[in-house]
Amino acid sequence: MMELCCLIDCGLVCLGLGALCFLTSYLTRKTKEIRGKHVLVTGGSSGIGLSVAQQAAAKGANVTLVARNVKRLEEAQMAVEKTIHKVGGANKVQYYSVDLGGDVNAIGEMVKEAEKSFGPIYMLVNCAGLSIPLKFEDISPAQVKTQMDVNFFGSFFVSQEVVKSMKQQNEGIIVFISSLGGLLGLYGFTAYSASKAAVIKMAEALHMEVKPYNISVTVSFPPDTDTPGFVEENKIKPVETKLISEAAGLFSADDVAKKLLADALSGEFMSTSGIDGFMLTTMCAGMSPITSITSFFSQVFLMGPFRVISAFYLWQFNSIVKKEYQKRVSSKKSE
Ligand SMILES: NC(=O)c1ccc[n+]([C@@H]2O[C@H](COP(=O)([O-])OP(=O)(O)OC[C@H]3O[C@@H](n4cnc5c(N)ncnc54)[C@H](OP(=O)(O)O)[C@@H]3O)[C@@H](O)[C@H]2O)c1
Ligand SMILES: *[C@@H]1O[C@H](CO)[C@@H](O)[C@H](O)[C@H]1NC(C)=O
Ligand SMILES: *[C@@H]1O[C@H](CO)[C@@H](O)[C@H](O)[C@H]1NC(C)=O
Repeated sequence: MMELCCLIDCGLVCLGLGALCFLTSYLTRKTKEIRGKHVLVTGGSSGIGLSVAQQAAAKGANVTLVARNVKRLEEAQMAVEKTIHKVGGANKVQYYSVDLGGDVNAIGEMVKEAEKSFGPIYMLVNCAGLSIPLKFEDISPAQVKTQMDVNFFGSFFVSQEVVKSMKQQNEGIIVFISSLGGLLGLYGFTAYSASKAAVIKMAEALHMEVKPYNISVTVSFPPDTDTPGFVEENKIKPVETKLISEAAGLFSADDVAKKLLADALSGEFMSTSGIDGFMLTTMCAGMSPITSITSFFSQVFLMGPFRVISAFYLWQFNSIVKKEYQKRVSSKKSE
């Protein structure tokens, strides 16, 4: 009886402390400013990257866009200029065409050139990436490598160049785009999930390295997001992958970008959208950096319960896979 009372007391104290921390962190939350600063967005010509570029420009940042296709870069530059014009800003947009999955020297050159015209990069958002969803035995070596080259190595090498000048400035923000598919391995995503999981551990390690230099690191975990890239990957996506990933809903690039910017500017390590995103990032927090009292407390109290809910999700995902398997078997029999 005595012990039970003790337990309840402890629980109440914890809850009280949690509520207090929540309130103070909410009231004292500081967010960084990007007005007049240099923001470089890779993959800035399309989808989430373009939305990030637009919103950063609307906040007064000088924006550099990086991607390969020059025509799409030109169009994106015009779109961002339009946004700046609308809010009456004096900031600028430039672009560079570079294959981030290619020559590392070209990446270094690009960063130098970009900094020459807009000054040292204050914020880097690594949005360039792609997903080629195919079954394990159907994916070609080139398709496996491209995803690793762009999603992982591209983000690694661009950030490596940028961190050098950030350390000299003693300030900076680096954002990586992982995916909910980087937190759990999904059917059809053997190569993609691996490339996006690699991004998370790189970010965790980098966070620890650059913290003394006043540089923050954020990882964004978008659910399915309505972008040109998403339309493209849906053309080849296995039906199982489609049915499973649909469970988390479809979000707009603008919403994902808005959340990403808000979280990055307030120094939050993980950024996501939607309830499934919240559940997965909370449950998979593991040894990730603790960057806010609110997210720390939700992790402490919700990891266990969310793991229970995950059993239901996994059961559902596995029954989708089983059903499609049985369909294939029976259609083969009837041939
Ligand atoms: N959409 C989703 O559902 C979703 C969900 C989770 C995570 N994500 C991630 O979010 C990021 C953005 O996705 P999105 O859907 O917005 O994609 P998107 O519309 O296809 O845009 C991708 C951007 O990256 C650029 N890019 C691709 N390969 C490149 C390369 N080798 N070198 C330089 N730039 C390259 C593209 O331009 P060029 O082709 O001209 O180079 C384009 O600007 C990706 O990392 C993606 O994996 C997306
Ligand atoms: C960056 O943007 C500001 C306006 O926000 C502008 O005054 C400044 O000249 C720009 N810097 C460069 C190098 O273009
Ligand atoms: C850290 O960076 C922020 C901007 O991101 C700046 O306002 C602040 O002065 C920097 N702190 C130190 C100690 O340099």
